[in-house]
Amino acid sequence: MATKESQAGKLVRGIKSVFKAPVKPASAAADRATPLQDARKAGIEPTHEMLQKSAKEHMFLHFTRHSPYQKADMPIITRASGHHFWDSTGKRYFDGISSLFSVNAGHGRERLAEAAAKQMKELDYFPLWSHAHPAGIELAERLISYAPKGLSRVFFTTGGGEANETAWKLAKQYFKMTGKPMKHKVLTRAVAYHGTSHGALSLTGIPSMKKMFEPLVPSTFRVPNTNWYRAQDDFATEEEFAIWAANRVEEMILFEDPDTVAAFFLEPVQNSGGCFTSPKIYFDMVREICNKYDVLLVADETIDGFGRIGTMFASELYGFEPDMLVCAKGMTSAYAPIGALMISERLFEPFKHGTTLFPHGYTYGGHPVSAAVALANLDVFEEEDLVGNVARNTGAFRATLEKLKDLPIVGDVRGEGYFFAIELVKDKNTKETFNDAESEKLLRGILSHRMFEEGLYCRSDDRGDPVVQLAPPLTIGQDEFNEIEQILRGCLDEAWRAF
Ligand SMILES: Cc1ncc(COP(=O)(O)O)c(C=O)c1O
Repeated sequence: MATKESQAGKLVRGIKSVFKAPVKPASAAADRATPLQDARKAGIEPTHEMLQKSAKEHMFLHFTRHSPYQKADMPIITRASGHHFWDSTGKRYFDGISSLFSVNAGHGRERLAEAAAKQMKELDYFPLWSHAHPAGIELAERLISYAPKGLSRVFFTTGGGEANETAWKLAKQYFKMTGKPMKHKVLTRAVAYHGTSHGALSLTGIPSMKKMFEPLVPSTFRVPNTNWYRAQDDFATEEEFAIWAANRVEEMILFEDPDTVAAFFLEPVQNSGGCFTSPKIYFDMVREICNKYDVLLVADETIDGFGRIGTMFASELYGFEPDMLVCAKGMTSAYAPIGALMISERLFEPFKHGTTLFPHGYTYGGHPVSAAVALANLDVFEEEDLVGNVARNTGAFRATLEKLKDLPIVGDVRGEGYFFAIELVKDKNTKETFNDAESEKLLRGILSHRMFEEGLYCRSDDRGDPVVQLAPPLTIGQDEFNEIEQILRGCLDEAWRAF
């Protein structure tokens, strides 16, 4: 007992001493102020050197190898306009990939900034938790007006990964509420990327991206993607290959037991692996298979949506009606973060009754400022007919990029709309690809570096076989296609010679 009292006494003394601790003088805030804060207060533009120093000390970038930045400078992007952006040294780049497949309407549109400011002054923020707001309501109505037939409800998120996560959770709850509680598994395609949260990463078909985070959410299964370039030797026609690939979806549903399979996620044009397209028959068959086994078909149009492939949504181009559609990026042309899951009325039906609710949401999902920016962005899309521009020019873009096929390193040029991949090979005749070490040297050692020097920003990616990817703003035309081709020609030629 005596011991306990002395411990309590110590505790009280400790607390008293904390309260007696000298209060920080008022000037402490000034002592704490950072060099960049000081510069801002003094109205001085931070220099490249100031930004570099601070970035190296404090920044942890996404999907980034940081070792080079212990010594070398990291690129710091300071401004953008049209299809160009500038770094902190003043160097200009052609934004060949719409920053991250996102800035579809191009950079620097004051109208979108004004829409954000107007919305902030009117209603800065309110969550979509038990309440709606005008910008969200109008955006939901507008999205549904562009969406494939059958979709009628919108659940807002802050990006594509959250929308995929939402789709899976909704599929599970829907089947639990409608008498099929065992339906919870999902199928996705090999090498596809669907996001990084635990659920969305579990949907992702790229083992190297997952291995540090295993065990992930169980119950996801992979089916083949539609990489026609690599299948050509085994099938007489692309249709024949597409039928084979669609049959693998049915096979996997049967392997796993249809009573346990809830959904199949696919990107109509798959980004990861390099812009895999499919003939219409693939989508027709997949739709039929999903109907047959009551499996929900989810179109992940995070990249494909908002004109990227020449129609507002890619599902429209391929003429199929998904049960759910995920979209994000191009909705605001990335001026503000937002994502959405659109669903059919059938999936909403159980939520119309009794005390049912979907216990799921995000603080910033459908943020009014993002919604207002999206509406202004979609006005730009309509007034400038950006989707029509892509549909009219996709053939010319493809033809310009196909000129690169005369280079020994270019094995394939594929894609749709303003979304193309150039696959790089060691031997065009045998289609032999580069091994991991060679791919590392080719993409990160040579190509990225050379393209950066030449002022072309595009993606060199080896999540599948090595590819260079292009997804420029939807505003560009033939002059810019030529510029891209010329820069790429020089860089690819040099890369080949360096091998
Ligand atoms: C097809 C696809 N799905 C999902 C995502 C994840 O989107 P976010 O980064 O907005 O979560 C991406 C991102 O690039 C994507 O390309």
